[in-house]
Amino acid sequence: MAVMLTLTLVGCGGDSGGEKAKSDKVIIKFSHVVAETTPKGQAALKFEEIVEQKSGGQMEVQVFPSSQLCGDKEELEALQANTVQFIAPSVTKLVGFVPAFQLVDMPFLFANDEAAYKFYDGPAGQKLMKTLEPVGMLGMAWWPNGAKHFTNSKRPLKTPEDFKGLKFRTQSGGLLDAQFKALGAGSQTLAFAEVYQALQNGTVDGQENTFNNIDTQKYAEVQKYLTISNHGRLDYVVLTNTKFWNSLTPEQQQIITEAMKEATDFERQLAEELNNQSLEAIKATGKVEIYELTEADRAAFIKALEPVYAEYTDKIGSEYIEAAKACN
Ligand code: LMR
Repeated sequence: MAVMLTLTLVGCGGDSGGEKAKSDKVIIKFSHVVAETTPKGQAALKFEEIVEQKSGGQMEVQVFPSSQLCGDKEELEALQANTVQFIAPSVTKLVGFVPAFQLVDMPFLFANDEAAYKFYDGPAGQKLMKTLEPVGMLGMAWWPNGAKHFTNSKRPLKTPEDFKGLKFRTQSGGLLDAQFKALGAGSQTLAFAEVYQALQNGTVDGQENTFNNIDTQKYAEVQKYLTISNHGRLDYVVLTNTKFWNSLTPEQQQIITEAMKEATDFERQLAEELNNQSLEAIKATGKVEIYELTEADRAAFIKALEPVYAEYTDKIGSEYIEAAKACN
């Protein structure tokens, strides 16, 4: 009865791979929503390769890309139910558990990739990762992807005024709604797997993402304008669940910890490289008009987005925001 209820609630992941660990080899299901060719997709495969090699095949990692097993919301539920043992959601999607994860969406908070990496690896980033333990999720690593940029199908976005009346897709959370509201635009939360179609049929006019997600999701087919804005970040936290983790032997935990460290180094090297390649690939489609914000444009956006800081500094915690600023 309990199992049936769990499966109904979870809706993805099937039976628990992690549970089989006691009698048989350990099966680890790693679900994510992006393409295999992305930094997250490649790093998940690297993790699979190292775990299987270090355990001599006694542990098997099954990676499910592109929402094939679970979508955005379902993967969080499946992780908590231990029907999936690893996920790496964009941190924004954790807002329902801990509002402070919206830090990555604070407009123009991190100056560059290095500042974000410094935050994640420093005491504030490590503290933030641990806030998920009370809900049964264990942070294993930060896998940064990169800066977000705006795309849309209606007009070039050069000033805050250009956003008026447009509607944008958001990943999750009130802060992103507040961001678009401050720019005079509407917003709608959609799962990643639904975005292409929503852009195609005009449910939303635009979205914000990394160059690599824009490229690998082929948004150039359904978007006419890209603004290189670097206005926020899209990064991941790799999570397992405490039930699965506690079912492992210390040796198995060590294998996973070591494999995660190697996969993390690999992911970080790839992220910058693949985002740069993707910008070139978007340019090469010849379908997208690209505009890069100037310093003066940036100042106008920072001013227009001040209400977001006024509303969200306390919700996120000024301790985290100050720690992030100190990394710039
Ligand atoms: C999105 O929903 O746009 C991203 O979080 C997808 C991802 O995992 O990179």
